[in-house]
Amino acid sequence: MIKNNNSVNQFLNEVNNKVRLSDFIGQFVNLVERGNSFVGNCPFHNEKTPSFNVNNEKSLFHCFGCKAGGNIINFISKYKNLQFLESLIYISQYSGIPYVYDQRKNKSNSEVKLLTNILYKSNNLFKELLKKNPFAYKYIKARGIIDEALETFNIGFAPDHNDLLKYLELEGFGFDKIKKTDLLIKNNNGEYFGRFSKRITFPIHNFSNDIVGFGARTIQNSKIKYINSQESLVFKKSQLLYGLKENLENIRSEKEIFLVEGYMDVIKMYSSGIKNAVSTLGTTLSETQLKKMWNYSDIPYVCFDGDDAGQNATKKIAEKVLKFLVPGKSLRFILIPENLDPDSFLRNKKKDDFLALKNKAKDLSIIIWEAIVNSVKNNTPESIALIDNKINDIVKKIDDVNVSKEYFRFLKSQKESFIWNSNRIKTISIRKPNSNEIIENINEKLFLVMIIFYKNYLTDYHEEIFQIKLSNETLEVIKTEILKNYNAESKYIHEEENKYKSLTPNLLSEIKELKKTHAASLNEEEKKVFFKQILNNLRLPNLLEERKIIEKQIIESSEKLISENLLNKYNKVSSEIKNIQNKRLE
Ligand code: UTP
Ligand code: MN
Repeated sequence: MIKNNNSVNQFLNEVNNKVRLSDFIGQFVNLVERGNSFVGNCPFHNEKTPSFNVNNEKSLFHCFGCKAGGNIINFISKYKNLQFLESLIYISQYSGIPYVYDQRKNKSNSEVKLLTNILYKSNNLFKELLKKNPFAYKYIKARGIIDEALETFNIGFAPDHNDLLKYLELEGFGFDKIKKTDLLIKNNNGEYFGRFSKRITFPIHNFSNDIVGFGARTIQNSKIKYINSQESLVFKKSQLLYGLKENLENIRSEKEIFLVEGYMDVIKMYSSGIKNAVSTLGTTLSETQLKKMWNYSDIPYVCFDGDDAGQNATKKIAEKVLKFLVPGKSLRFILIPENLDPDSFLRNKKKDDFLALKNKAKDLSIIIWEAIVNSVKNNTPESIALIDNKINDIVKKIDDVNVSKEYFRFLKSQKESFIWNSNRIKTISIRKPNSNEIIENINEKLFLVMIIFYKNYLTDYHEEIFQIKLSNETLEVIKTEILKNYNAESKYIHEEENKYKSLTPNLLSEIKELKKTHAASLNEEEKKVFFKQILNNLRLPNLLEERKIIEKQIIESSEKLISENLLNKYNKVSSEIKNIQNKRLE
């Protein structure tokens, strides 16, 4: 029989941390995301307009129509008409979280209380001591931490073990109780030491806001920079996010999270006015931590050190989260320049500089693609085939069918552009004399070179030319000008200057230079081939885009038989793409 509320609460807490309520209820009710919550038609009364709400942040549901509401246990017992215990068992099977009610559990509950209580009291002492220790306080100030952050994060300074013992005993804890925490370490001679002695302390809270451990930094250049609490009944690194409790209010209101690597990063960001960072505790991101972040933000930002270790951690996280991706949820990745971590970046930079990096963050899908393409050395058929293998590996890792399908499509299209670009770069670089600088929009500029200086192309290819839309706005304006001047009756009457009119002097000299370097030395036949190549280069992105759109229409079409029209269109565009790509390889 279940009488003990604590054990139910603890179970419920664990379930709420792990299970997104909308996923669970989504098994039975069609839900769509709206603002902060998910809505659908209430399963408990008849309705046509949805008034049934699921809030993942609070792990609660509520119907504005029939007023049904509550937590996951209330939902399933009402929906499936289950007894209380049956509901717990149902949820336990769904979530993989064991529900055991026995004496042991009861005992461990009171032990948890005792441990967190001792840690809480110790932290009170640590906080006091930081204020009284000028050396430690100076260190904190030198690192750019503001007083408000000291308060918010309850930063402290740990005394040696004698002072700590004295204090805790005064607070009413016997030595045998204190020993159960990891505040003391026993050495081989049986002597006790304070684990965190003479270090700056950062209390770490669990998702129920109890202190469950500490991180502690040396201020004396000890070889061991940070000492953390040991894994224990209460301190489970994979179940914790440093800074979540302290920054929760801002995270809720901004619906944005930065995941960083260290305590100092979280605190320094706070001190710089970025009050929504959290960090793992020196371990990689766990499923619990990921889903916890997703409760508050659909796409948290991962912001790891620019050094190799940080970059490896980034790659590891990217591959790890694939399994858990669901529609609408993802991660984005911020790269900090010059091997800096957020803390050191903010030493000379401001909040806005950091936020500027955020705007350049890369999507998870791009990080994944880059990892694939960086592992391929060239574009030989063998390497290209290797890309396909890697794409398949990635796609297999994604549990969600829809997300997996989209990743497949995305990575395949990246692959096509990759093949295309590597071919293009090859041909163009042959023609580029001793200059390694990358010319922006080179294809578009070369296109202008051809239609400005070699008038016959304007006539011979005028239909194709009319269809081209240049992506660079300025260049597109110039193209339109040139075409406007083009007169079907008197194709060649225009003075050269007319064509230059719309060009700025800089652009004109660039175009003239490009003519010299890329076109002037070609004979007529070569010029023609060259021009066709440019046309194709410009058309390919459009064609690929067009094909994507048709693909989408085909997939979304509800008819059993896809319309012949669509299929014809698809085949036509595909064969054009193939033609262009094959020509490139000639
Ligand atoms: P870093 O080595 O990046 O430290 O470790 P940091 O955050 O930049 O520290 P500062 O700026 O020098 O003070 C990142 C995280 O890895 C864990 C800690 O959680 C740290 O915040 N770590 C690091 C340890 O647990 N022990 C260590 O000795 C070092
Ligand atoms: Mn640092």
